[in-house]
Amino acid sequence: MSDLLEQVRERQWFYTFELPDGSVTPTYHDGELDAIHHTRWRMLEHTLEGVYPEGFSRLSAIDLAAHQGWFASRLARAGLREVTCVDQRESHVSDSRLIAEVLGYREMGFIHSDIFDLDTDALGTYDLVLMLGLLYHLENPVGALRLARALCSDLCVIETQVVPGMSGMVDFGSYRFVRPLKGSFGLIDELDETHGPEAGATGICLVPSVEALTWLLEKVGFRSVQVLQPPADAYEQLLYGKRVMVAARV
Ligand SMILES: C[S@@+](CC[C@H](N)C(=O)[O-])C[C@H]1O[C@@H](n2cnc3c(N)ncnc32)[C@H](O)[C@@H]1O
Repeated sequence: MSDLLEQVRERQWFYTFELPDGSVTPTYHDGELDAIHHTRWRMLEHTLEGVYPEGFSRLSAIDLAAHQGWFASRLARAGLREVTCVDQRESHVSDSRLIAEVLGYREMGFIHSDIFDLDTDALGTYDLVLMLGLLYHLENPVGALRLARALCSDLCVIETQVVPGMSGMVDFGSYRFVRPLKGSFGLIDELDETHGPEAGATGICLVPSVEALTWLLEKVGFRSVQVLQPPADAYEQLLYGKRVMVAARV
């Protein structure tokens, strides 16, 4: 174990993990982002408790863009029977493996892959699909939502930055063919930051409005879509609706 803890101490961490010797992983942001992670975990845990009052031991989950496996490790700690972590960055997958070994979570499995390269037929479905902090880094958010639906047999929780929405009527080719706007996307340039550990692969980011996100989730096949209420002491972005967490059921 001391060997493993030594390896943990040599690496850089995005999350504060509590280690078996009572210490915690130091983060490269000096704990500044702990609040956003903790707010999201509390919202996720609260949702799971509401949907699965009988407990979590029969549930399988896949965490799309799991980073270093912080949410996945909490799901394993909460008693899920299987939690699969997917991330495009090899170093994140390696960090997740290490942390799972240190914490003794054999329920955690790992796939090093771009989410768009996943073989959904081979993977099958999971009771819970997580997509936290990913959608707004992607140039194909609709494809990502379709993927989430393909992998989901019950509950999908999506958390994302959102942009202010536009509404109104659009002359769609002519004034005789008018359509209501269902939502909007903001285009963000992350091209110079794709090397960053939290960035997307292409640097072209389409960020949805909350209306776009909820409308799309229904159109890709989820039957009920609920924007989750943040707690009163939530991280400011969630509190003020700059980010949202949404629960969608199959
Ligand atoms: C902002 S971090 C969010 C991590 C974690 N889900 C969370 O909410 O704390 C974005 C993560 O998405 C991963 N990522 C970005 N684009 C991806 C893609 N196309 N396929 C798989 N992982 C991706 C990055 O490597 C990074 O770990």
